Parts: sequence; C-alpha cells; structure tokens
Amino acid sequence: MSTKRDFLAIPNFSSEELKALLQRAARLKSGADTAQLTGKSLGMIFKKSSTRTRVSFEVGMTQLGGHAIFLSDRDSQFGRGETIHDTAKVLSRFVDGIMVRTFAHAEVEELARHASVPVINALTDLLHPCQIVADLQTIAEDFGPDHDARTVAWIGDGNNMANSWLNAAYRLGFSLRLACPVGYDPDPEILARAQGAANVLLTRDPKEAVEGADVVTTDVWASMGQEDEAQARMAAFAGYIVDDALMGRAQAQAIFLHCLPAHRGEEVSASVIDGPQSRIFTEAENRLHVQKAILLELMG
Ligand code: CP
Ligand code: NVA
Repeated sequence: MSTKRDFLAIPNFSSEELKALLQRAARLKSGADTAQLTGKSLGMIFKKSSTRTRVSFEVGMTQLGGHAIFLSDRDSQFGRGETIHDTAKVLSRFVDGIMVRTFAHAEVEELARHASVPVINALTDLLHPCQIVADLQTIAEDFGPDHDARTVAWIGDGNNMANSWLNAAYRLGFSLRLACPVGYDPDPEILARAQGAANVLLTRDPKEAVEGADVVTTDVWASMGQEDEAQARMAAFAGYIVDDALMGRAQAQAIFLHCLPAHRGEEVSASVIDGPQSRIFTEAENRLHVQKAILLELMG
C-alpha cells in the first residue's frame, strides 16, 4: 500500500495539520525552517495559464534544492489526448510529486488515484486550495494566528476561490459571509458542509457581507474558461464592486485580499486594490512560502 498523501482540497488536512502548515510557512518565510528537498523533482501540469502559481512552485522547488518541470497542454502528450491514467503512471516513474492546474476537478482526482506520488491541486474550476492557504497566512500576519476570531467577507462569484474559502471556514471555524448574485452561488455541498461547522452566511447584499468584517476579498467575475460568459457576467455582477464605500463598512483595520490577476474598475476599484488596506502583493509572495510548506509536507 502506498502511503502517499495528496493536497486536492483544504479538508485533506485536519484543522491541526492546517495550522501546523501555516506555522511552517511562517518559519520558512522568516528563514527559521531550512528543510530541503534535495534532488527531488516536481512535475507541473498546466492546462490553464498561470503567473504566480507556476513561478512560486518553480522557485520554491529551486529554493528547496529540488527541481520543477513545466508541462503545458501545448507541448505535452496529454494535450494531444494521452490519458490521465497513463500520464499519472508515467510521471510517477520520474518525479516525486505532481502539481496540476486544470478545468474539471474530477481530472485532478483521477490523476491522484493513478499516481503513486503526491498530487497537488493548483486550481480547478471547483477549488483553489493553495491560494487560500496563502490568504490565511496573510491574514495571520495582520491579525495573529487565531483565524476563528475573524470575519471574512467574500464579494462576487461563488467560484473556485469562494468554495475554498468555505473549506477553510469548515476547517478553521471563522465567520464567512459571501455576497453572490442569484445564479452564481458557491457549490451547494461545500456550502452546506461549511454551514454545519462554522458561522457561514450567503447573502445577495455586499453591504451585509462586509459590515464589520476583518477581511474583504473578491475575485474576477469571469474565471479562466468562462471568457464566453464575460458580458453576461458583467451585467449580473453590477453592484458587486469592492470600492471605498463598501470597504468603509468593514472594520477600520480591515484588509483587502485578491488572488490576482485583477480587473481594476470591475470587481474592485483601483483606490481599494492599490490603497493602504490592500495586502495583494504580500498575499502573492505568501504563495511561495505556502507552496514550500506544502511540498515539504507531502514530498519531504
Ligand atoms: N492567483 C493565482 O493563482 O495566480 P496565477 O493564475 O497567476 O497562478
Ligand atoms: N477564479 C480565478 C482564479 C485565478 C487565479 C480563475 O479560476 O480564473
């Protein structure tokens, strides 16, 4: 029996493991943790574009003394139809871990089932767990490690980010308020599970979501793969912009997060994303420390 461990969704880690992962990411950031993955290799499958995820995993592997291999749809055999099964089996003979960014979440699960090495979900249409761990680290840097004392407001699409916020609330027990327009709710099962474990509210009203929040966060209105829906979404999301008026309803010391890339003037005003409450570049940097913590946990 293989004892390999995957990270496909935040609940793959228990609350204690998630907290330990965040502590490790902080130690890696401060230089106190110098663990290495000398000579180890990570295969990185990208079926969607990326800047932060690719660079943070690749630089992370280099800093850990290992190596990362970028495999894109355009020039790999899986882009020509080689099966997930065969790709998983073959890569497992070469590399010590596989990172994958794709469309259907079921593909990542299938890959993990057939791979004998750890598989890391680097974004699917359903989830973006690595990003949320970086967001949790960013929150801890402002507010301390007790996430359960915080209130997070999510404004906009019930997308992969929103679903992963729900999973984080499920594990860490913080208050989460999501304001999503009709037709753009998060995944119902993930929502119900989080509501069973934490104080989670789904509303249509961004003002209600943001009132007194410690963290205000949003994402693009059309995610990768939804480009054809962009116009309809612009109409559906009118009124869901995070601007100064909305931010003004949050706590005075509230921070603004966005996974990036962002569209200034659509989901967030330039004054907020480039203003004093924004932590977007620290959030992006924390991808690196979190990826290293995940890689060490799974491949170390
Ligand atoms: N936030 C994020 O995952 O960015 P990339 O798409 O650039 O990897
Ligand atoms: N929801 C966005 C996140 C990008 C990092 C997308 O899936 O395109």
